[in-house]
Amino acid sequence: MDNNCIISLRHVSKVFDGVTVVDDFNLDIKKGEFVTILGPSGCGKTTTLRMIAGFQNPTSGEILLNGEDISKLPPYKRPVNTVFQRYALFPYLNVYDNVAFGLKLKRIPVQTKNRKGETVTKMVKLSQKTIDEKVARALSIVDLDEMEERDVSTLSGGQQQRVAIARAIVLEPQVLLLDEPLSALDRKMRKDMQIELKEMHRKLGITFIYVTHDQEEALTMSDTIIVMKDGHIEQVGTPEDIYNEPVSAYVADFIGESNIYNGTMVGKKKVRFLGGVFNCVDDFPLNEKVDVVVRPEDVVLGNPGKGVVDGVIENKVFQGVHYSFSVAVGKAEVIARDTHDRAVGSKVSVHVAKDNIQVMHRDNLENEYRDACITGEGQVMIGEDSFPCDLTQLLKGSHVEEEGSSILVSKDGKRYDLKDAEVIARVAFDQVNMSDDLETGKAQGRIVFSVYIGDHYHYIIRTLDEEEDYEADSPYEWLNSDVVSVDIPAKAIRLQLKKPLEDYEAED
Ligand SMILES: Nc1ncnc2c1ncn2[C@@H]1O[C@H](COP(=O)(O)OP(=O)(O)OP(=O)(O)O)[C@@H](O)[C@H]1O
Ligand SMILES: [Mg+2]
Repeated sequence: MDNNCIISLRHVSKVFDGVTVVDDFNLDIKKGEFVTILGPSGCGKTTTLRMIAGFQNPTSGEILLNGEDISKLPPYKRPVNTVFQRYALFPYLNVYDNVAFGLKLKRIPVQTKNRKGETVTKMVKLSQKTIDEKVARALSIVDLDEMEERDVSTLSGGQQQRVAIARAIVLEPQVLLLDEPLSALDRKMRKDMQIELKEMHRKLGITFIYVTHDQEEALTMSDTIIVMKDGHIEQVGTPEDIYNEPVSAYVADFIGESNIYNGTMVGKKKVRFLGGVFNCVDDFPLNEKVDVVVRPEDVVLGNPGKGVVDGVIENKVFQGVHYSFSVAVGKAEVIARDTHDRAVGSKVSVHVAKDNIQVMHRDNLENEYRDACITGEGQVMIGEDSFPCDLTQLLKGSHVEEEGSSILVSKDGKRYDLKDAEVIARVAFDQVNMSDDLETGKAQGRIVFSVYIGDHYHYIIRTLDEEEDYEADSPYEWLNSDVVSVDIPAKAIRLQLKKPLEDYEAED
């Protein structure tokens, strides 16, 4: 094993009440590294950290420290210290006593001679002088010198946070675990503390394992980022790797602002999205459904007709150095960043250089429409076609105000108008019904691809305006280029709002 490696997780899993919340986690952390575990709420970050700290045992797998299994070692015997998600200071103690708390309990081995003159090891307390020195040093690292006497309840949030960190580093752990230590602070304070923590990491030279759900924090602070999804590792890499080469739409979505589209490979290194065909550098089989990621800074706006597709500037925000434009291309939105100002309402072309188009394999388990929206009639618009759907899935216990309305009413009477709300709509392949009777379905298209998979056929039906594809599983045989209609039962369309539901709260 790598000598430089301080902590390794080998096939670590944790199951709570039959639910796997950490799933076969494998990871090597180097000495002195600043590693960040990044992921949305509930993905298993705290659980992973608690297993490293020893507050929870893995259901299976092992955790190695310097090559030795510590899975059975209790927390206080691990050279690891934790700054918890909700920092727990002792409110009735002053700064000094909070920081010195662990030191006062600490016993160190000392060699002495007993009455018979034999050398024995005794566990002794630290001297008051040693404790004073260590506390002073820890407080100086977190920039709280001269604050020893202050009651912690009189400190600001940021200062309390620093006391919590001092308390953890005073014990000189080899590894410091930090669970969203800055989440309680405001933005400005968080920024300052990020810089301080980074500086502290440099000064101490120990390993930091940092947990956050804030991608910006992860990008600015870490040597290595681990992106977690539903208990497993989705990607590990440097901030640059993860930003520039996300392995999935999930990672891209999580890291930085991205434009993400469903694309289709329509030729060798040619991908169709936004209604246009772009050259790219990744090669995938013809007709493969892919995810396409384009960073806002890589979108090149030009005069109409000069790019691959044209759009209209719908919105702009000045962000200090550059403008962030929202460009409508058909029904899709393109976020573009440019230093050159443009008027809202003006027509522009959109171009992206081929190396800036990240094409990713999509686990093709269902139809996914990222550019869907809700109509005024409460239907979901996919491409140019709308389908009845069940809006009440977006809020437990809600109902639609009246049939054919886009207004959702919550249990306690709050109204949300979802007209024009952007949604991601997902439909399983076997829920897409095909028919020769063109009047039966809500959309019509031509079969552009078919394959027989064991006991059924898998089809791609492209709408006649070439705007959208429906993938369908069917036991029946159709011919390529047959024109069919497509229908989907309302209950089979799963909706996810792109913005929080609160954004649509309606006036009474
Ligand atoms: N002691 C427990 N018993 C049962 N379920 C638990 C327990 N601890 C955590 N879980 C569940 O495990 C999942 C992961 O929880 P965890 O606290 O690790 O998430 P997290 O990524 O830290 O989220 P957050 O960002 O909200 O802190 C959650 O679904 C949570 O409800
Ligand atoms: Mg947590």
